[in-house]
Formats: sequence, structure tokens, C-alpha cells
Amino acid sequence: MNRNDFPMLNQDIIYFDNGATTFKPKVVIDSMVDYYSKHSANAHRGDYHISMIVDDKYENTRELVKNFINANSTKEIIFTSGTTDGINMVANGFFKYILNPGDEIILSKADHASNILPWQALANELNLVIKYVDLDDHNYVTVDNIKKVLSPRTKVISLAIITNVIGDLRPIKELCDIAHQNNIYVVGDAAQSVGHRKTDVQALDIDFLAFSGHKMYGPTGVGVLYGKEELLERLRPTSLGGGMNETFDDQNNISLKSLPSRLEAGTPNIAGVIGLGEAIKYLNKIDLNKISEYEHNLREYLIDRLIKIDYIDIINIEGDAATVAFNVDGIFAQDVAVYLDKYNICVRAGNHCTKLLKDVINVRNTVRVSLAFYNTTEEIDTFVDLLSDRDKIIREML
Ligand code: ALA
Repeated sequence: MNRNDFPMLNQDIIYFDNGATTFKPKVVIDSMVDYYSKHSANAHRGDYHISMIVDDKYENTRELVKNFINANSTKEIIFTSGTTDGINMVANGFFKYILNPGDEIILSKADHASNILPWQALANELNLVIKYVDLDDHNYVTVDNIKKVLSPRTKVISLAIITNVIGDLRPIKELCDIAHQNNIYVVGDAAQSVGHRKTDVQALDIDFLAFSGHKMYGPTGVGVLYGKEELLERLRPTSLGGGMNETFDDQNNISLKSLPSRLEAGTPNIAGVIGLGEAIKYLNKIDLNKISEYEHNLREYLIDRLIKIDYIDIINIEGDAATVAFNVDGIFAQDVAVYLDKYNICVRAGNHCTKLLKDVINVRNTVRVSLAFYNTTEEIDTFVDLLSDRDKIIREML
């Protein structure tokens, strides 16, 4: 699907590491080159023509993001450097000021470090309790298991919408309903979901949602923090400087701007924001529903082929995202990745920043294939054929 749009695909390469980052279509790259070569000014600071072009483009992306995730207002869209930045802002700018010793945060061991470490640090600082929800037989988070860890002290549930190894789509809407009945906030890590299926923050009724541009065909170094307006109004800036203050004096009196500028200190990643806007326009044209369906079929195709190889152990035969983690019996995951690289096939091997998942699945490292809509069944055939001779892997990995 749409392979010609991606300059990176004009080479002999099979790229199956889209969970780490996706390739960028030419329109995204061009928009950033245009920014640097035709109207390279700062945003929200200049009274001259090219600066105003930049302001328009920057704020137009905010509008595009708002519509893309169906937020209520552009005030709810804060540009960040990525998912990690967004979750850290929520933990340190919002929850730090409302949680008390003994309060509980619910996380899952299948989640990425970026949705565990900020909470662990906050727990250490404020004497909070982190509870890890039990995963079911498929390593999924279920509503029933969440109910089992709820207590009157639970204040936050923070989960990936789709995880980066198991690839399960969490029942976020149901969790938000239960959470809100119990005055609990829900934070979502949408890094792995937002470029692969439709996101509707109002339908989910989620409180905060963070995601990155580079996993949705946009640039690296830019992301979005969504928050309900009344919550973002209470989020204290974790970074202060230019662009976010209205005025200040030498008596330390600081008056801040209103949302969203209040939470965007310093010169932002302007080229990144512009590129993100193009990525959204690009995805809108293709339609995320078509993308989800295509990627789902690719996953089924991959599983159907891999499952026939008896020395391959698939960790997530079930899974909603086009992410498949596996091991080749007796061969270290990284060695499999190096072997595949000899054939220009890019996969990720290791623990994929989900260092607690091993406690649940009893496997420390896996080979991970994460597909995107520009991948094909022919690529999967080449990949599986290369894995179909275990002796060849052992011979060639050395
Ligand atoms: N979070 C990225 C991944 O899963 C880096 O590969």
C-alpha cells in the first residue's frame, strides 16, 4: 500500500521495526525541508511575513491534531518532544501536586519504560504505592483484573492503549468508565496505537493521552500531550521560559499565558510540528480504518506462516496490533536479528524497553516484527523463508 510515497523504501530493505519508528512519506520530509529552506523563522515571536507563515502552519497542526483525536478544543493539544515527555509532564506537573502518601497507581508489567519509570520516580518521591495489574493467559489487561486491584486509595490508572510487544488493545473505554465512577484518573500511552487505528479521546473519555510523531509517519522529536481542558488548566509547567509567560518581574512574580502556550516553554520543534501536521493529512487521506484492516490481515498472514515452524515460539499468537514477538528455539534473539540483517531485514531484538514483561512471560529477550501499512505479504514470505532453515541460521549468524 502506498510504498512509492516513502523514499526509504527505494532501496533493497525489508523494514519490520515500525514499533520503534516508522518511515516518513515524502510529503512529510518535503514540508520540513520547505520550513528550513523557505520560511525558517521562529513561531509566535515575529511580526514579519515568514514568521506569520510559520505561526499559521504551527497552529494548523494543532487543529489537525485536535480533529485527528477528536479533542474538544485546541487548548487541549500540547506539543511535546514525544510520548515520554508527555507522560513525565503529567506525572510531575499534575499528579505530583494532588497525590498523597499511600495513594495507589495502577500500571501493567507489559508496558514500556516510559509509562513505568515516571510513576516509579513519583512513587519514590511521594511514598505512593504502585500496583501492577495481573495479565491474563494471553498477557492482556482485562477489566476484571483491573477491578481486582482497585482500592479506595487508587488514584491513577496509566496504561498503553496498545503495548509495544504483546500488541494488545486495552479496553480503555470500559476502564475509563469504571475509573471515573471511582474518582480515578486514566492516562493513556498512545505511542503504538495512534498511527494504526482511530483514536477518539472524547468517546474514550480519557483524561490524558500522550503520543509521538515518529511512530505515526511523522518526524522524531515531536509529540503531543492531550489532556481534558480542566485538567491541563491545573497542570503546572515542568519547564519555564520564553513563550509561556505573560509577564514577570524582579520580585519573582510570574504570570503565565493561557493554554496551550502555558505548557510550551522555549522555542518548540517547529519543523517537527509542521511535519507532524503533514503526517496527519497523509494518514487522513489513506484512512486509518483501512490501515487497521490491512495491518490486521498482514498479521494473520505472518502468524499463519510462522506457526508452522515448530522451533519458533510465538509469544503473542493472539494480538490486536501488527506486532509479533517470537524466539527461535536455542538461538539468542539478537543473533536472529543479526542473521536477518544480512538479508537487509530490519527487526528489533531484546526486551524492547519493557523490562518488567519478563516477570510475566518468563522470557527476557524476543525478536519483534512490527508491521506497517507499507509492508507486504511478499516481504513476509521472504522473511519466513529465511527462518525456515534453522541450520542455515546457526551457520550464518556466526
Ligand atoms: N518504543 C519503541 C519500541 O517499542 C522504541 O521499539
